[in-house]
Amino acid sequence: MKDLKKFFVKTYGCQMNELDTELMVGQLVKRGLERVYDENAADLLIFNTCSIRDLAERKVMGKIGQLTRSSKKRNSIIGVTGCMAMAKKESLFRKLPHIDFVLGTNNITDLNSVLDEVMTTNKQTLRTDSQFEENLDYLVAKRDDKVKAYVSIIRGCDKFCTYCVVPYTRGQEVSRPPEDIVNECKKLASEGYKEVTLLGQNVNSYGKDQKEWNCLFHDLLYRLDKIEGLERVRFMTSHPIDITRELMEGIRDLDSLCEFVHFPIQAGSSRVLKKMHRIYTKEQYLEKVAMLKEIVPNVSLGTDIIVGFPTETEEEFQETYDALKDIRYSVAFLFAYSARKGTPAMRWKDDVPEEIKQERLQRLMELQDTIYAEQRQELLGAEMEVLVDKRGSRDGKLKGRTRCWKNVVFEHPDDAAIGTLQTVKIHSYNHQTMVGELIKSPELALI
Ligand code: SAH
Ligand code: SF4
Ligand code: F3S
Repeated sequence: MKDLKKFFVKTYGCQMNELDTELMVGQLVKRGLERVYDENAADLLIFNTCSIRDLAERKVMGKIGQLTRSSKKRNSIIGVTGCMAMAKKESLFRKLPHIDFVLGTNNITDLNSVLDEVMTTNKQTLRTDSQFEENLDYLVAKRDDKVKAYVSIIRGCDKFCTYCVVPYTRGQEVSRPPEDIVNECKKLASEGYKEVTLLGQNVNSYGKDQKEWNCLFHDLLYRLDKIEGLERVRFMTSHPIDITRELMEGIRDLDSLCEFVHFPIQAGSSRVLKKMHRIYTKEQYLEKVAMLKEIVPNVSLGTDIIVGFPTETEEEFQETYDALKDIRYSVAFLFAYSARKGTPAMRWKDDVPEEIKQERLQRLMELQDTIYAEQRQELLGAEMEVLVDKRGSRDGKLKGRTRCWKNVVFEHPDDAAIGTLQTVKIHSYNHQTMVGELIKSPELALI
C-alpha cells in the first residue's frame, strides 16, 4: 500500500464546514500525515464542499475538474466531502471521474477507513450512509487559530425551509452532550483560547431532542459563562422563531456572551416568508427584534436575505428593502435565490428572471453599503474592546474583532498582544475595517 505523507484540504461554505475540516485534519495528523497548503505538494487532496447555491457547487466542480485534468494530480488521492457529497453522492463519480472517494457530512469519522479502502482496493469509494443518530463531535479538531475556536453544539436542521438543502445534506438535529461541550471549552480555555463560537444550523434548538439532559441553549450558555479564562462566547446561527426571552436575558446578563446575534430575516413579506416555510410573519419577526433591542440596547444584529424567491413581486421585494433599511443590521449576507434539487421550492417555477434578481440584489447591496458607511462614521472616536487574534502579514498591524464582530486593526510592535483583550480608540477606517490606536493596556506599553 502506498504511504500517504502530505495532504491538502480546501474548504467551501459555512463555519460548520470549516470545523469539519479541522476535525478531518485532526484525524489525518493523528495518522501521521502533514498538512500542506500547496496542492501540488500533496498526495491526498480533499475538497470539503458546499451545496447551498448553484454558484457554490459550480466553483467546486470547476476547481476539481481543472485539477484532475493535470496529469500530475492523477497520482494523488482526491476526495470530495461535505454537503455536495450528500447532495450528489455517486453521481459525482460520473461528473468527476478522477476522484477516489465521496464522504458524507456525518461520515467524517470514517475518513481513515475510507482512505484504507481506497488504497487497498484502488476503487472509487462512496460512504454517505450514516444514520445521523450520533453526534460526531467526539472527534478532536486540529485548529490553525490559537485564539478563537469553533465548537459544534448541534448538527443538522429540522426546519425545512422550502429553498434549503441543509436538512438533506446535514440530516436531522442531533445535540451534543452538554458535558462534552463544557469539557471541550474548558480544555480550549486552558490552552489559551479566549473565544468560542458555538455552531449549529439552528443553535436555539439545542437540547430539545434530548429532554432528559435538561439543558436548553440558554442553560448551556450559563454553564459556559462560568469557565475561567473564556472571555467571549458567540453563536451561529439562530432561527428567529426560537430566539427566546431567556436567551435575550442571557445576552444581557452573561459577561462572556457577545452582544451580536445573527438573526436572519430572509424576506420582508409575510406571504413570501410563509412560502419559504420560515414559520414567522414579518410582524412576529419585528416584535422579536424590538424585544431584543429593548432587553439588550447595545445589541448588533446580522441577517441573511434571499431575493427573487419564486413568485416574489416588486412590492414584496420592497418590504424586504424597507426591513433592511429600518432594522439597520451591522452584517447582512444578501443572496439571489438559487433553485436547489430535492427542495420543495424546486417544484415551483423559478419565475423571477435572473436580471430582476440581480437588480434587486444590487439595490439591497447599495442600501446596505450606505448603512455600513453610516455605522462606520458613528464608530469614529469610540473606545472598543478588541480581542487581538493575529498580526496581518501584509500591513504588519495587529488585528482583532470587537464584541459586536467588527474588524479592528491597530499598530503595536509587541506580539504579546495576540490573544489578549485590548481597548482601542477608533480614528478612521479602511473599507470595512476600523482603524484605531491602543489607549490603555494592562500588559503592553502604549506607543
Ligand atoms: N442555518 C442558517 C443558514 C444556513 S444557509 C439559518 O437558517 O440561518 C445560509 C444562508 O444561505 C441562508 O440563511 C439563506 O439566506 C441562504 N440560502 C439558503 N438556501 C438558499 C438558496 N436556495 N438560494 C439562495 N440563498 C440560499
Ligand atoms: Fe436551511 Fe432553514 Fe435550516 Fe437554516 S433553518 S439551515 S435556512 S432549512
Ligand atoms: Fe454549505 Fe452545507 Fe454549510 S450547504 S452553507 S456547507 S451546511
